[in-house]
Amino acid sequence: MYSLIMKKRRGEELTLEETDFIVRGYTAGDIPDAQMAAFLMAVCFNGMTDEELTQFTDSMIITGKVYDLHDELGGPCVDKHSTGGVGDKMTLIDAPIVAACGVYVPKMSGRGLGHTGGTIDKLRAIPGLVTDISHEEFIHTVKAAGFAVMSQTDELVPADRKIYALRDVTATVDSIPLIASSIMSKKLATGADGIVLDVKYGDGAFMKDIEGARILGETCTRLAKRYRRGCTAVLSDMSKPLGRMVGNALEVREAAELLMGKAASPDVEALSERLSVAMLVSAGFDRDEAVAAAREAVTSGRALERLEHMVELQHGDPRALTDPDRMGVPRYTERYKAPRSGRITTFAAEKTGLAAMYLGAGRRTINDTIDPTAGIEILRTVGDEVREGEDIAILYSSSVTDMSVSTKLLDEAVTIQ
Ligand code: URA
Repeated sequence: MYSLIMKKRRGEELTLEETDFIVRGYTAGDIPDAQMAAFLMAVCFNGMTDEELTQFTDSMIITGKVYDLHDELGGPCVDKHSTGGVGDKMTLIDAPIVAACGVYVPKMSGRGLGHTGGTIDKLRAIPGLVTDISHEEFIHTVKAAGFAVMSQTDELVPADRKIYALRDVTATVDSIPLIASSIMSKKLATGADGIVLDVKYGDGAFMKDIEGARILGETCTRLAKRYRRGCTAVLSDMSKPLGRMVGNALEVREAAELLMGKAASPDVEALSERLSVAMLVSAGFDRDEAVAAAREAVTSGRALERLEHMVELQHGDPRALTDPDRMGVPRYTERYKAPRSGRITTFAAEKTGLAAMYLGAGRRTINDTIDPTAGIEILRTVGDEVREGEDIAILYSSSVTDMSVSTKLLDEAVTIQ
């Protein structure tokens, strides 16, 4: 391992045998954290060639189980992945839309951490809903409802779990080859026909600028091509929270409302269309056909029916979608008011995500429990004129009575000029 760290430090290209040695050895516990951390840091500084990245990703994939969902489902299937954001409820909208258009969406998702939310946590706000389901139940639900969402198991790329935990504490998260191999190993191991990546940029994203997001998207797309898999990267803004709701039950409500045809916030509406169209195109639709089909799935109510069916099959109460109080009514509420009059020029996503986390909507550490009712409803956003004392947001929680930490974070997130 010492010589391989040195090789990477000199910027040389590793062979498949060498990446296998590193990934396998670290996953098995034969390579200590200190050496792996040094290797990851060398990757941060020197990057990886496409060949090397493919090998490293391959080495990661084979530490776990590899699925062929296309074969198991017997039809076209697409997967979608977001690099993580605040208020990102897109899977809850796009998976049912695409399913209603006749394309399977088998989704294995992770939990949220820090300021970003996770689809699993959002779905678990629905009473009874289970995401720790067997593979058989997962396939059965996808076939019946058109889509299903299950928690990633330890069998899916175990190397990523271990490497990600080390990256998290060694300042080696935001390296393009490390992010690309982490995301794509999990996506490629599940064998969907098409992969749509929602690559976020801006304050609340890993990639702070659009150029970084573009490079990450292109790197992932090239990697998928080497596996003969279609992959489309959609770049989207995460400088402010997506939509009006941040928090688990709140985001389920916002997603269900869009599927019911209620007026949605323009950013959610636009991104959900971009993503569902990209997913349908990757399954063989032409663009115009995809736009029409996605819109019809919502206006006909068929996408909502898909969501209800999936919730039911995953043991949840589908009535929660049309009657959100069934997900719990927050015990404590506080209004966040404009400290002065003017125009809102920023509503920083990361600080808002952290504010929601401190209300109980997210996890500081991986074992924290979630308060499904907690979160933030955004009433006024970037570009809006507000008067001093006017409500900008409502903070909700059932677990936190003193909301001063979150309020202070919102003070830092919101700029009024
Ligand atoms: N999402 C992942 O799964 N891995 C990363 O490294 C970053 C985002």
